[in-house]
Amino acid sequence: MSAIKGIVLLSGPTSGLGLELLRLLGQQDVALVVVGRKLERIGDVLAAISAPVHRIEFDLAEAQCPEKTEQLEKALFEVLGKIGLDRLVFASNAGIVEPIGQVGDVPVSGFNAPLAINLLAPVAMTNACMRYVKSVNGRLFVLNVSSGAATRPLPGWAAYCSSKAAARMYFDVLGCEAPAIVRIQHFDPGVLDTPMQAKIRAASEQQFPLVQQFSALKNEGRLKPPLEVARQMELRIMEWLQQ
Ligand SMILES: NC(=O)c1ccc[n+]([C@@H]2O[C@H](COP(=O)([O-])OP(=O)(O)OC[C@H]3O[C@@H](n4cnc5c(N)ncnc54)[C@H](OP(=O)(O)O)[C@@H]3O)[C@@H](O)[C@H]2O)c1
Repeated sequence: MSAIKGIVLLSGPTSGLGLELLRLLGQQDVALVVVGRKLERIGDVLAAISAPVHRIEFDLAEAQCPEKTEQLEKALFEVLGKIGLDRLVFASNAGIVEPIGQVGDVPVSGFNAPLAINLLAPVAMTNACMRYVKSVNGRLFVLNVSSGAATRPLPGWAAYCSSKAAARMYFDVLGCEAPAIVRIQHFDPGVLDTPMQAKIRAASEQQFPLVQQFSALKNEGRLKPPLEVARQMELRIMEWLQQ
């Protein structure tokens, strides 16, 4: 193996787009940090990677709890410090679309998990990343897996749209605060053939009036294969690391 080019932090490596990206990055000269829950499910994938891989086991829904976000931030900062390279990529990929339901039908508490997973957990991880890159005089590239839903309202997706929009704006603020050391890219993967889409198709028309359109995309074979999209992310990551 040639010299390790940098660190890639990947959230949500256990399924869909994140799992495909993990497989691809596992063949690159990068040190990987994966953050997710029940990581034993991808033990075989992780074991097959010859480059260093660090696992942080964390249920990102727990980011609703301040003590837990502190734990995540601390654990990540420590792992990054052990690796010690000055180029860091954060592929912020973990996300949920639920709860699906129209305004008035979703209780306030329904927003806790999407806000924790789609916004607060990325905030905690970015805090650790920023502290780390500043400590090593390094640079950070955030590849934020966003969505059309971050900029376009869709009925039944208030929790998803608003949490994705908030994450996008959060990263934009970071980009304008620290342009010398941080680069931000929002990546809209399009409509993917992953378990997230299965959850969308399982919604009722009352919950998600566009459900038939999304089912038609699946039935007509028009969903994008996640591997194809993961390749585009891999390219962006490796290009930045080689600059
Ligand atoms: N699918 C689409 O059409 C589409 C379109 C636009 C944007 N996106 C975005 O693409 C990204 C990847 O989505 P996907 O389609 O690959 O969905 P997916 O197959 O459902 O994967 C989502 C990932 O997030 C992780 N995650 C969810 N809740 C978690 C929690 N509480 N703790 C830790 N990890 C958690 C999942 O882990 P578990 O395996 O433990 O659940 C999984 O690894 C998301 O940010 C999504 O918003 C997807």
